[in-house]
Amino acid sequence: MRNKRYLVGLLGASLFAFYSFSSFIGVKEGSEKNSSGRAHTGNASAVGPNASTTCGGCHSGGDFTPTMSISVKDKSDNIVTSYISGEEYKLIFDIATVNSASGYGFQATTSDASNNYAGDLTSTITSGTRLVTLSNFEYFEHSQTNAGASYEVNWTAPSEGTGDVTIYAMGNAVNGNNGISGDQASPEKMFTLSEDVLSSVSDVKINQFEIYPNPVSETLNLKLNEQSDVQIMDNEGNVYIENLDLNEGVHNVNLSDLKSGIYLVVISAESGTQTEKMVIE
Ligand code: HEC
Repeated sequence: MRNKRYLVGLLGASLFAFYSFSSFIGVKEGSEKNSSGRAHTGNASAVGPNASTTCGGCHSGGDFTPTMSISVKDKSDNIVTSYISGEEYKLIFDIATVNSASGYGFQATTSDASNNYAGDLTSTITSGTRLVTLSNFEYFEHSQTNAGASYEVNWTAPSEGTGDVTIYAMGNAVNGNNGISGDQASPEKMFTLSEDVLSSVSDVKINQFEIYPNPVSETLNLKLNEQSDVQIMDNEGNVYIENLDLNEGVHNVNLSDLKSGIYLVVISAESGTQTEKMVIE
């Protein structure tokens, strides 16, 4: 009787020890490995405000000198350094190494200046990657050891007034031995996107006209305070609507033929010319 209880106790203690050890090295049951993603398997972040152990906290011994770089593109594939609230962007992460590695892993996330998750990582573009949610943050990371060192994900910018958004990322260049030896992690890379606040670009005359809603999807309401000539053009100066001569009052302008993007609305009236930025979703 006594011996049996002792045995049960011992069994319990060793199971506990094994479990603690497993969670320490971050191995999940079955075939789930850190090589399937650190947030996914280890339930831990290596980047951003909630970072615990960095990739280099476990992985070392390699001679790759990896560095991570981050770039952001808008819907028209232009590189941007600022965002417009609610717009969709592509975040691009590239790991460069001095000596080439046999495989790569990484992790990335975003936050505002108050260290809250900012915007939304919506869907992965590059295969061999995944999105994982951990304590209110979403992480973009590898789902396998990848031969490629460049990863893209779709991201929707946060609500108006969020201000600066920082993107965090870290890469790990590995030797493919399914362990932590012979690998080398990059330092954490941070990239800050500022908020592009939509406002009048011209100070000729305020309140000469109003446009709403902005961003707009199809029908723009145009409120004119005097008879005006209306022109709508894109950032590059291509004119889409021209010589639209309208009286004072509210007008509906159908924009369903225009692609999404940033446009300029130029109103010319007797009292002067005014330009406003407009976003078509
Ligand atoms: C707490 C320790 C720990 C941390 C932190 C950690 N890993 Fe790992 N990683 C491991 C272990 C253990 C393995 C080997 C077994 C496995 O895959 O789980 C591994 C394996 C890997 C592999 C495969 C390595 C190879 O040579 O085949 C990649 C890729 C990888 N991790 C990427 C990362 C990245 C990227 C980070 C940071 C975002 C990271 N790891 C952070 C423990 C860690």
